[in-house]
Amino acid sequence: MDKLLIRGGRRLHGELLVSGAKNAALPQLCAALLSADPVTLHNVPRLQDVRTMLKLLRNMGVAAERSDDGAVHVDARVLSTPEAPYELVKTMRASVLALGPLLARFGEATVSLPGGCAIGSRPVDQHVRGLSAMGAEIVLEHGYMIARLSAGRTRLKGARITTDMVTVTGTENFLMAAALAEGETLLENAAQEPEIADLAEMLIAMGARIEGHGSSRIRIQGVERLHGCSHRVVADRIEAGTFLCAVAATGGDVLLRHGRADHLDAVIEKLRAAGAEVQAVQDGIRVQSPGSAKLCAQGFRTTEYPGFPTDMQAQFMALNCIAQGRSTVTETIFENRFMHVDELLRLGARIQVDGKVAVIEGVARLSGATVTATDLRASASLVIAGLVADGETVLEHVHHLDRGYDCMEAKLRGIGADIERASA
Ligand code: EPU
Repeated sequence: MDKLLIRGGRRLHGELLVSGAKNAALPQLCAALLSADPVTLHNVPRLQDVRTMLKLLRNMGVAAERSDDGAVHVDARVLSTPEAPYELVKTMRASVLALGPLLARFGEATVSLPGGCAIGSRPVDQHVRGLSAMGAEIVLEHGYMIARLSAGRTRLKGARITTDMVTVTGTENFLMAAALAEGETLLENAAQEPEIADLAEMLIAMGARIEGHGSSRIRIQGVERLHGCSHRVVADRIEAGTFLCAVAATGGDVLLRHGRADHLDAVIEKLRAAGAEVQAVQDGIRVQSPGSAKLCAQGFRTTEYPGFPTDMQAQFMALNCIAQGRSTVTETIFENRFMHVDELLRLGARIQVDGKVAVIEGVARLSGATVTATDLRASASLVIAGLVADGETVLEHVHHLDRGYDCMEAKLRGIGADIERASA
């Protein structure tokens, strides 16, 4: 298994390119199942999760390839099996995004229940409830959700769906299913993440009729068929946010080209309050920081967009560990998303966790050690901590990082970090 070797203490300077968003590319690859025409996606990040999704599509008999120019082409004219098997779903929960499109276009789907996950229990009951309201019959057998249209139906039907909580992939499944359903679907309590709006834009380019995306109420008029499209995946706000925290922590001056400051308001506000300078510039974000010793730790509470993203909690916590003062971080979305804490403690951080709340006492220095990545964003927080720690930090289980960051160590090296990969 690969490791990352990080020698901390370097300030970061220069420019890097923010990739396309993982959590936009994954639903968009599934949305290609909605049409018999070819779909081309540009700016798809090179990540393990994307490779898993392409494998999932190919496993269904769909043509899904990346061409030399980096674009991904999906042709779902024919489909051999409308199935997402456990072997693939267990490595990537986003596979549940195949459920809505398969049901909408082919009238049937067999998708493995995801099972346990490191950051929380992550049920899919809302997906099942919403799609059932649209005329699907979903039974659970042998660990699989077996879904088909209810008797006498040839298409899903529009429905009014109000979820018990805001769910990102749930909203995406309903959006894709509703695009081909008969009649109108109204999604109340819909997720407002930029990735939802980007999926809606792609569907509109395919001929879908959608209004209100980006708000908590989305209205969809179903159409009989969708055509192919060419779409550019929105920039990854979590990748950009991770680099903002890294530069804030190490000190320096970096331009994140293609980064979208307007998708990171909550994080940028906290970085500015901490003492970093963050500006939206043309086609990017510029961050300048005097280094963590001169920053003031900031408390925050994770909430749905446009609040502070749970996917940035671990990275900002790493910054708080070496900023001045005490801060309180509350995780409200997932029940087990503090696994980075024990690893940060190994680097000398002072953190106490009580349920959903972590209290961090800033320390003057961290000292490099061997740490283990436990999930994607936890890994990113350990990279940030390693970049400021004295001496060498060895990050093990880097495959977690590779699931969601496109060439992270190469991008960091490009702005002056001392980081390299050691392949076992
Ligand atoms: N929930 C339910 N039942 C459901 C669906 C969700 O109880 O049927 C609960 C979850 O357990 C959680 C809350 O609702 O407590 C919100 O979960 P959500 O459904 O929004 O999460 P998700 O769609 O599974 C996406 C991202 C995650 C990100 C969350 C929250 C993708 C592929 N994944 O997950 O990204 O943390 O939204 O913003 O879009 C990551 O990239 O590292 C990552 C974990």
